[in-house]
Amino acid sequence: AQDLARVAEIVAAHRDTPGALLPLLHAVQDALGHVPDDAVPSIARALNLSRAEVHGVITYYHFFRREAPGRRVVQVCRAEACQACGGEALLAHAERILGCQRHETRADGAVTLEPVYCLGLCASSPAVQIDDRPHARVTPERLEQLLADVGR
Ligand code: FES
Repeated sequence: AQDLARVAEIVAAHRDTPGALLPLLHAVQDALGHVPDDAVPSIARALNLSRAEVHGVITYYHFFRREAPGRRVVQVCRAEACQACGGEALLAHAERILGCQRHETRADGAVTLEPVYCLGLCASSPAVQIDDRPHARVTPERLEQLLADVGR
């Protein structure tokens, strides 16, 4: 209920802005860590869209989460520049270290592992972001160091 009250405030702040849907969804995810399914009806109503339209946008953009993430969020870039520098192997390594598959939150709620598509560090790939902090040129050894206290 607290989450929905927060959503109502965000909706009220955005509803009269043209093209409000994406900024509004970003604001909800910033505030709550995800965009809960039960927020969709009020967002749709406020922007005069159908629920299906709002839902379609949320599911189209990988960036939006529909479920609350774990206490820590680890993102490994899978876009082109990072792929060329071992991004996929790094993601697989993160799965092993954390004991958590990509797109999943570990059962104890400690960590969510997400593939992402470009962190803006292409010139220093491969890139990883842990919570809000980006890391460039991440080797497997560096990843182990970075993840040492994640998921404990
Ligand atoms: Fe990985 Fe841009 S491709 S940061």
